[in-house]
Amino acid sequence: MKALTLKQIKSPLELLERDEPSPGSAEVVVKLTAAALNRRDYWITQGMYPGIKPPVVLGSDGAGVVDQTGVNAEPFWQDREVIINPGLNWGHDKSVQSNDFTILGLPRDGTFATKVVVAASQLHEKPAHLNWQEAAALPLAGVTAYRALFSQGGLQSGETLLITGIGGGVATFALQFAVAVGATVWVTSSSPEKIRRAIDLGAKGGFNYREEGWSKQLLKAAGTPSLIIDSAGGAGYESLLSIAAPGGRIINYGATAGPPEKIDLFKVFWKQLRLQGSTMGSPDDFAQMLKLVETHKIRPVIEHVFPLSEGNEALQLMKSSPQFGKYVLTID
Ligand SMILES: NC(=O)c1ccc[n+]([C@@H]2O[C@H](COP(=O)([O-])OP(=O)(O)OC[C@H]3O[C@@H](n4cnc5c(N)ncnc54)[C@H](OP(=O)(O)O)[C@@H]3O)[C@@H](O)[C@H]2O)c1
Repeated sequence: MKALTLKQIKSPLELLERDEPSPGSAEVVVKLTAAALNRRDYWITQGMYPGIKPPVVLGSDGAGVVDQTGVNAEPFWQDREVIINPGLNWGHDKSVQSNDFTILGLPRDGTFATKVVVAASQLHEKPAHLNWQEAAALPLAGVTAYRALFSQGGLQSGETLLITGIGGGVATFALQFAVAVGATVWVTSSSPEKIRRAIDLGAKGGFNYREEGWSKQLLKAAGTPSLIIDSAGGAGYESLLSIAAPGGRIINYGATAGPPEKIDLFKVFWKQLRLQGSTMGSPDDFAQMLKLVETHKIRPVIEHVFPLSEGNEALQLMKSSPQFGKYVLTID
């Protein structure tokens, strides 16, 4: 098999020939047709992630056909078209992952390869309305958006919501999911073009977070959102405390712009805000996310598709985030 492998931090991934994998007793081998990138893959190549031990095959998202099943894996899965839940060993507590939780694609070899070995319990049938590339784009970002919006955010139909940095893969899913359940969604972005694309997907409107006074414009147009979904943190986080409605929730699943410079606790306690962290999702979140996607026939937004051999080009693009939605790799 071939695998795009990280051999050294801050060096391009190398497409290497590796031994054919065989499944452990409760595992399967999936012959991959497509994989997708997440910012995590980029952070890992830059050494900005805990526990990096090269050589490792990156990639958390993948879709393909089950090629081999282990002796104790459900024979049902043989030859099925599947997607993979990349959250491994979540554990039994829905409120937080166990200490054994890991994500496919570090430390365990991931999906930037022609084949991947996973536990059969990580498999789900590929949603029938999605093509291979769309199916591969869904898992990690989809489950993260679902948990942030619903399991942690408690989003209700008709509620007003703000999603920051809408070009992001997770953010784009959050927009699609929230629109599907009838929320009123506003967005921020560094790019007017991305705001326009978000409006095409059902957002009410958007504001450029790099422009002075964007939060005042938002308050004028949208009022105070009762739910905010953020993955940027950084200096802009403080303005989210001002924008949020009294009693509002701010759900954070990332810190792309680093830690907030300041958190005004007076605003937090006086407005009775809930600041809530969120990471990926439980197996139940994953199943619920798939149900939502299937019910509303949601199709992931794909910015560009590269062949596996050009995975480094996709990773390089992530440095400056020109994308709206996901980068996908096709695998033959
Ligand atoms: N906790 C988890 O389980 C989990 C899961 C997935 C991702 N994450 C984290 O969440 C973040 C986003 O991940 P992703 O895969 O969706 O990334 P991505 O597709 O690479 O998106 C990055 C986006 O972040 C936005 N952004 C950058 N700086 C910003 C700022 N100062 N203010 C507002 N938005 C800003 C940009 O939006 P515009 O282009 O619109 O300006 C950019 O397109 C990353 O930090 C990632 O590590 C965490």
